[in-house]
Amino acid sequence: MRTQVVIVGSGPAGLLLGQLLEKAGIATILLEQKSKDYVLGRIRAGVLEQGAVALLDEAGAGARLHREGLVHEGTEIAFSGVRHRIDFKALTGKTVTVYGQTEATRDLMDARAALGAPSIYEALDVSLHDLESERPRVRYAKDGKNFEIACDHVAGCDGFHGVSRRSIPEERLRTYERVYPFGWLGILVDKPPVSEELIYVNHARGFALCSMRSMTRSRYYLQCRLDEHVEDWPDDKFWEELARRLDPEAAKNLQTGASIEKSIAPLRSFVAEPMRYGNLFLAGDAAHIVPPTGAKGLNLAASDIAYLSAALIERYKKGSSAGLEAYPQKALARIWKAERFSWWMTQMLHRFPESSGFDQKMQGAELDYLFSSKAAQTALAENYVGLPY
Ligand code: FAD
Ligand code: DHB
Repeated sequence: MRTQVVIVGSGPAGLLLGQLLEKAGIATILLEQKSKDYVLGRIRAGVLEQGAVALLDEAGAGARLHREGLVHEGTEIAFSGVRHRIDFKALTGKTVTVYGQTEATRDLMDARAALGAPSIYEALDVSLHDLESERPRVRYAKDGKNFEIACDHVAGCDGFHGVSRRSIPEERLRTYERVYPFGWLGILVDKPPVSEELIYVNHARGFALCSMRSMTRSRYYLQCRLDEHVEDWPDDKFWEELARRLDPEAAKNLQTGASIEKSIAPLRSFVAEPMRYGNLFLAGDAAHIVPPTGAKGLNLAASDIAYLSAALIERYKKGSSAGLEAYPQKALARIWKAERFSWWMTQMLHRFPESSGFDQKMQGAELDYLFSSKAAQTALAENYVGLPY
């Protein structure tokens, strides 16, 4: 087989890139190790920046998002039992859209199928070869048979545990990492959310987040210990603990029910530099991870793809590699700012096991300053709605 760009991974990064390239007349083959249903069964991010929404529109996958997505003009932060609103719209003129990653992924898969672009699911043992040459090759196995694709470029969109980043020799890669001493226990339930906007909660018992997927489906998170398991958290215990961390009004509005999904995610900051090795280009979680506080993971994958798709289109349409040369530097400038924001939000809102009385006073002062300063609120809002591409 031969194509122009092999895309490894059918998450938001890979699917979005595929759409933007195919629409520009560039041939792609998308390889994914899991089945379509498995990919669609993963519950992940829920908040899209305007830039990500614009990209989904450009990809021809935005129609349902505009019908069903919820536009949020602000968010609330609760501390000491009191909620404070950050008004994104008034502070920045921008909003965010609540629309599940699962739904965006489904829309992108449908759009790709409508273009008739080739996608190979359950492609096993993907391996990348001759990445430093003009003719990289990608091998995989499917239904017990081995295949090879010759291409010009490989897009490594295969997430944190994928094969792409691991295909770069160690001495050519520099990694930066922080692992946080807690996780997020998430629950999905078919009940209306406690409030019309998200509530981020700093509580002495640990962080909590009230989010949603629609006005009838809620997503809640609790900070938990790293040694805890989903089985340690039957639904009743989850609801009881969540109610204890909420302010009285939110607790009163909380509608509980049987969970339809429950999972624990560890929190990590991670960046691998540079995002290129020969003709392999990394994008999304393959190159970087943020802790979820602030909802930047999916949005960063989208901004990487905005840069990478433009660079590949320039390469094929104008014959210039300048955009591809500049890709790592351009993407990393934005990534590091999102890393800083996610780290700061995490630091400000969670209970750290080792934190001293002094650390807690600092956290309190940080929040107090935020609630009393328009400049501080603007800084939060500007980052939350997304820095410019
Ligand atoms: P992914 O979505 O990870 O997609 C990568 C794809 O590559 C996967 O489908 C994978 O199966 C495939 N793949 C992996 N290895 C191979 C291989 N060897 N060969 C072929 N295919 C391969 N962000 C938020 O903003 N808010 C959240 O609440 C949130 N919750 C999260 C919860 C979890 C458990 C995780 C893991 C992430 C969460 N994120 C969240 C982050 C966000 O979902 C990611 O940033 C986003 O999915 C990144 O998209 P991606 O396309 O780069 O990677
Ligand atoms: C969600 C996740 C986040 O990390 C966040 O900051 C906001 C919302 C969510 O899954 O809904």
